[in-house]
Amino acid sequence: MIKAIRGTRDLLPPDTALWNFVEGVVRDVMRTYNFQEIRTPIFEATELFARGVGEETDIVAKEMYTWEDRSRAASEKGQSLTLRPENTAGVVRAYIEHKLWDRGLNKLYYIGPQFRRERPQKGRYRQFYQIGAEVIGPASSGSESPARDAEVLEMLATLLDRLGITEWNLELNSVGSSQERVKFNEALRKALEPVKDKMCADCQRRATTNPLRVLDCKVPEDQPIIEALPRITDYLEEDSRKHFEAVKEILTKVGVPFTLNSRLVRGLDYYTRTAFEFTHGALGAQNAILGGGRYDGLSEALGGPAAPGIGFAIGEDRLVMSLQEKSSADSVLRKPDVYIAAMAGMNGEAARLARELRRHDLVVELGDDGFRLKKSFEAATKAGAKYILIVGENEVNSGSFALKNLATGEQISVPRTDLPQKIRS
Ligand code: HAM
Repeated sequence: MIKAIRGTRDLLPPDTALWNFVEGVVRDVMRTYNFQEIRTPIFEATELFARGVGEETDIVAKEMYTWEDRSRAASEKGQSLTLRPENTAGVVRAYIEHKLWDRGLNKLYYIGPQFRRERPQKGRYRQFYQIGAEVIGPASSGSESPARDAEVLEMLATLLDRLGITEWNLELNSVGSSQERVKFNEALRKALEPVKDKMCADCQRRATTNPLRVLDCKVPEDQPIIEALPRITDYLEEDSRKHFEAVKEILTKVGVPFTLNSRLVRGLDYYTRTAFEFTHGALGAQNAILGGGRYDGLSEALGGPAAPGIGFAIGEDRLVMSLQEKSSADSVLRKPDVYIAAMAGMNGEAARLARELRRHDLVVELGDDGFRLKKSFEAATKAGAKYILIVGENEVNSGSFALKNLATGEQISVPRTDLPQKIRS
């Protein structure tokens, strides 16, 4: 038997109703914050991620699905392509390619699959879905303002509240400008030199390749060492410090609670200044429901003009999972309003009636005239229909139909023209 690839999965009904509910609320919220949708390809030139996300990151170094695309003609070169592991690099590429700076400040969102070759476990998949947004534009459009950071964070708090997710915690940090980070990295490297041999294998490697990532280590034995390392907060210069203060001030003013976490560094190299994660207690080990931050130098790193930006991506799989803890998909699923049971030879008439009722926006499940009445009742009950409507020759001729409420057992005779209104009530 052929099965779905490890780390990928099918989303089946009724769960898909929950996914659609989430995406519906997201689109509503995005509209009120004046964000518009962007869709970029799911595969891109490998170089985009190498330059955008960073060669030294786990994502690029270990987790990408990359292949060599054969050339079709001798004149054409083969090209290294990669299934997108995230969508920020793609959005910034599109920003540059389509000169979106002409539009001033761009407020964009996306919903779609991403691919990372991670070890699959609960809440971690190789194909997973992100709901993300990016605010990007020339500095003159206000893209660098702390007001944008705070607006994005407040929008996220609103979105989670609207979805009924209450137990979230916003962890906030400033990772500084790229120059500040260079100095901080040096300080970290220096501080790690005498102690790194006592740390886990990952930390030993990172101490030289990417010292910032040491701060992300979860190994209990390493924690006392990490706690004693220099803090990024002490390496922020006036501009970054003021920017961070302003973000915190607005958040406090609008009533969005946050926790400062000077060890929050994120797994992608493009971040500058504000970095954040929302965690959710009920999710277990993979408890980051979303992450994001500023990436003021990303456009330039990809060969574009200066274009400060900030954004986030929600792990939709995890978001849906945290909703499943409380509600079931059933509560957002619209069950059939009516099941039409066609008597022998009445498939055509039943279809005609179904067409009429669906035009009134009723959810109709259409039976089959090969079913006996008993089987129709069973099918209607299984479908969760509210009413069953019998369509036989007598009914069609008289223009009056037997409509039975499956929950109460009450049956009434209803003229054809009154059916939509009766079924809705
Ligand atoms: P990220 O932190 O790598 O950031 O991913 C964002 C979210 O995607 C995570 O918090 C998590 O919920 C979800 N996620 C990541 N990997 C997996 C996986 N293997 N299975 C299930 N869910 C996963 C980014 O991707 C950045 N592009 C976010 C961003 C946008 N920063 C600025 N703009």
